[in-house]
Amino acid sequence: MCGIFGCTSLKEGVSKLIYSSLKRLEYRGYDSVGLATICNGHIFLKKDQGKVEEVERRLSLSALPGRCGIGHTRWATHGAPSKENAHPLTDCEGKVAVAHNGIIENYLELRSKLGDSGHKLRSRTDSEIIAHLIEELLNKGLTLEEAVRQATLTLRGSYAFAVISPLCEDKIVCVRMESPLVIGLSRDYTCLSSDIPALPPDVESIIVMNDGELAVLTPHSIVIRDLESNQQLPLRIVAKESVTCLADRGGFTHYMIKEIFEQPQAALNVINAPRYYIVKLAEELVKSDRVYLIGCGTSYHACLFGSYVLRSIADIDAQPVIASEFSESHVKLGKDVAILAISQSGETADVLQVLRSYVNKDVKLLALTNVMGSSITRLVSSYVGLYAGPEIGVAATKTFIAELLMLTRISIEVARIKGVNVDLISGVESILRSSPKLIERSLTLNEPLAKSLSVYLSLKNSAFFLARGVNIVTALEGALKLKEISYIHAEGYPAGESKHGPIALVEEGFPCIFVCPHDETYYKILGNVMEMKARGAFVISCVEEGDKEVRETSDRIFVLPKIETKLLTPILHVVPLQLLAYYTAIARGYDPDKPRNLAKSVTVP
Ligand code: M6R
Repeated sequence: MCGIFGCTSLKEGVSKLIYSSLKRLEYRGYDSVGLATICNGHIFLKKDQGKVEEVERRLSLSALPGRCGIGHTRWATHGAPSKENAHPLTDCEGKVAVAHNGIIENYLELRSKLGDSGHKLRSRTDSEIIAHLIEELLNKGLTLEEAVRQATLTLRGSYAFAVISPLCEDKIVCVRMESPLVIGLSRDYTCLSSDIPALPPDVESIIVMNDGELAVLTPHSIVIRDLESNQQLPLRIVAKESVTCLADRGGFTHYMIKEIFEQPQAALNVINAPRYYIVKLAEELVKSDRVYLIGCGTSYHACLFGSYVLRSIADIDAQPVIASEFSESHVKLGKDVAILAISQSGETADVLQVLRSYVNKDVKLLALTNVMGSSITRLVSSYVGLYAGPEIGVAATKTFIAELLMLTRISIEVARIKGVNVDLISGVESILRSSPKLIERSLTLNEPLAKSLSVYLSLKNSAFFLARGVNIVTALEGALKLKEISYIHAEGYPAGESKHGPIALVEEGFPCIFVCPHDETYYKILGNVMEMKARGAFVISCVEEGDKEVRETSDRIFVLPKIETKLLTPILHVVPLQLLAYYTAIARGYDPDKPRNLAKSVTVP
């Protein structure tokens, strides 16, 4: 993970711009931060463990002098979060500073070689070797760009990094190899960033770097070369507005709650999304005998939902697989198989790794993502955007709902092309059309109860989220939300399976959250509610308006609008669970936007 940002400018004060961009990149990692600039033939470097603003208060990162610099927000992989492991990292003689995102797989071997030739490595990171490898080549008389290029050719892994040196005061050399990197162009400066949303507002156009490329930036020039051949490549400049829009908290205390309340708008955006690309992707699916839906975390839960809608609405053999578990030993690939990858960021390493291994093979690669221009969009033959707008909170909320709705739209298009389930389609479409209003109502009906229940839940150590059928998706997602931001152990489980083990944990006051729309599983789940109540559980249930039985057996109920097509109930029933997780994190005194040990884009496999 980690976020890197660099800027070379015609004007002084570049550290201020780097600092504010690091704040926007912080969702990629926030256990330590650092900034280095070049001025008067020296590297000025400040870094420490802690979040960006904390470290700024202690060290005044934004006051470093100079017109060229790099910065880094870290999510630790190799080496604990500490000052010495924070980036930028330097070589022995202070000739270069490096900010790196990703993993160098052969770092142990390179580290030991560097040690043998007298280099003193001060951190426990895999990244520091990059600085020393470049130093070694500079000492042989190579230019900075050639030293970076040749050092890179010795590295194995997935990475992106940026290098500055007092030897070339206005130059940044950066490299992309399977970790995201974009270049931003403004009137007065050129910059690089791990993510498009972190680019400063006055960046007018961008270049998305490709894997295997090296770029040399100055305030008024950009040269991109192929790493292997060293050949100069044409610049692929696009307008920034075509790929992004800016995010701010808009008066809300946290991004997460703002994004939860943006869900009606996200739903509207899905409804209004251009039909052309959805049909194109649907046409690919129609040609496939089987589709594997791959994703991680919340996006995997969307895959699970996708397998229900694609099977029920579109008669497609759809199998959800956790991306990091995708292996040919348990999936059956062939000519008429498609992989539909789902990823909010489009940069999740586990997902990209699967796609990369099937590029140019007999498998159709398709994707659903929120970030146009992300790596995933360049690996697949056809993709559809989610149009949810930037999601900054680490916990995915509005993009989850957008994923569910977009999968539903895709299923409808497939069914249309195949001419199947015509009766079902009109009901599904009418719920889609009213989804912004339905989600809005789910929010207003349930926010007060979520707030008050959060006080009770914040005192618990563990909770179950139980459901049957398609709402297992909702239970899994509710549990993931609670555990990732409030650090309460939470298990999402099929309700019918809970008596085969998990029920042993239930004692007086144990929180069990049930998802119980009035679908074909209703009376069975009612039985499961009773079982838990009989053992002293405190039962909170999500029910539809007009519900009687579950209401009577539960201690508290979230009430959701009643819809006819029960297949789509996860879109509404997940809403109170998101609110419950958010307010519980607040009640426990945690920052829901930056949960510990996590990052928004998980770019390490
Ligand atoms: O960007 P992606 O959708 O590929 O991210 C996948 C997961 O890392 C992500 O959903 C993660 O589980 C979230 N923190 C969940 O809220």
